[in-house]
Amino acid sequence: MSTDIILLGNPLLRQKSQVVDDIYVSGVQALGKKMLGRVKAMNGMGIAAPQLGELKRMFVMASHPNERYPYAPLMEATVVINPQIIAYSESKEKGWEGCLSVPGLRGEVWRHKSVDVMYQTLTGESIETRYEGFLARIFQHENDHLDGYLFVDRVESGHDLMVEAEWQKQIVSSMQEISDS
Ligand code: NI
Repeated sequence: MSTDIILLGNPLLRQKSQVVDDIYVSGVQALGKKMLGRVKAMNGMGIAAPQLGELKRMFVMASHPNERYPYAPLMEATVVINPQIIAYSESKEKGWEGCLSVPGLRGEVWRHKSVDVMYQTLTGESIETRYEGFLARIFQHENDHLDGYLFVDRVESGHDLMVEAEWQKQIVSSMQEISDS
């Protein structure tokens, strides 16, 4: 497994990232491609630039069903640049999250059920859209990274944290029972 992911405790994860002025410079293009590669290699749902030590307002969202998130929708991995959340749904929901920078830990976190967002892509396209449910959750989690926040800051209490092995045993197996029945 790749070891260049910055881990919880490294102060870089707590910094505010800078707006990307020029999408077309080689450094930004290369970083976008590197993040896409990391997400695929680690079978992640997303990664933000600060997790690779780059304080740029960029992340990848990449949702697909897997063992950890059997209910995740399928979405092509997308590089999100200069994201802005322009509106939040009033309603929130609690759901499980993990993070490549916090290996082995899961937390149940409240997020807005839907978010209206704007961002640019690696090809310079401007996107304005609404994400709901799991995709809204990924967007909020990754956007938090750009402001120096991690999911562990969003849990209501330590009782909402679980070690991944225990989470697999208790939570994933109960989700599979529900989907099997
Ligand atoms: Ni994360």
